[in-house]
Amino acid sequence: MDLSLEGKQALVTGASRGIGRAIAERLADEGCDLLLVARTPADVEAVAAEIAEISGRQVAPCVADLSEQDGVELVATEVNAVFGGLDILINNSGAAKGRTILELDDGDWHEGFALKFFGALRLIRTLWPFLKDSGGSVINISGYFGKSPAPNIILGGAVNAALENASKALAQMGLADDVNVNVVRPGMTMTDRHRALLVQWGEAQGLTAQEAERRRIDTMGL
Ligand SMILES: NC(=O)c1ccc[n+]([C@@H]2O[C@H](COP(=O)([O-])OP(=O)(O)OC[C@H]3O[C@@H](n4cnc5c(N)ncnc54)[C@H](OP(=O)(O)O)[C@@H]3O)[C@@H](O)[C@H]2O)c1
Repeated sequence: MDLSLEGKQALVTGASRGIGRAIAERLADEGCDLLLVARTPADVEAVAAEIAEISGRQVAPCVADLSEQDGVELVATEVNAVFGGLDILINNSGAAKGRTILELDDGDWHEGFALKFFGALRLIRTLWPFLKDSGGSVINISGYFGKSPAPNIILGGAVNAALENASKALAQMGLADDVNVNVVRPGMTMTDRHRALLVQWGEAQGLTAQEAERRRIDTMGL
């Protein structure tokens, strides 16, 4: 499919595996040059090299922890050095713990918001001038529980709801600045993170991961 993305410059966070990696592969396939962010150097470097080889596009790795202000600044500096501008920002990285309120302490709440909410908002704030120049696009990856809360994923749900609310405000600002801001709320996607959550939810209910998956599918009415 030609999405008219040939030659666009895109930043994808959390791109070393799972949904972020799939987004990166697809964007490269559509002709985008990429900057891929994750914390584990070997993983993000390997994925960048693999996608560059398959697609023939420029794909640079960037090692940063986006839950820290320093990490966001490092990424912004890399965007400037590698591209000197930006067309597409995909805020995908997220790793909130899937537990009930009784099992989460203040540190868990801070961590959950630090990465997916503050990390995304800081990147948007820092890179907005580039996106304004290019008439660019922001896509924030949210999640099912942002709209449909559940007790054992209260943190991820709250983070996603906050991100969706802020995205709506940013989308309105984008109308004036010619920046498109959208949220994508993926359904259940079998990534490493999701497999780990199924094991954890299963354990909490005395179920196998497979049984926990079945229960989730039934609950979602799929
Ligand atoms: N899987 C699902 O069913 C599902 C459904 C709805 C929404 N989502 C959302 O989709 C997004 C991706 O989920 P996924 O299942 O693909 O997750 P995943 O497989 O765990 O991948 C997470 C990615 O984020 C990176 N990352 C984690 N912490 C980071 C940090 N502090 N700074 C920078 N990068 C970091 C990871 O690499 P490093 O660990 O090396 O940093 C990895 O590349 C998340 O926002 C999640 O909430 C997932």
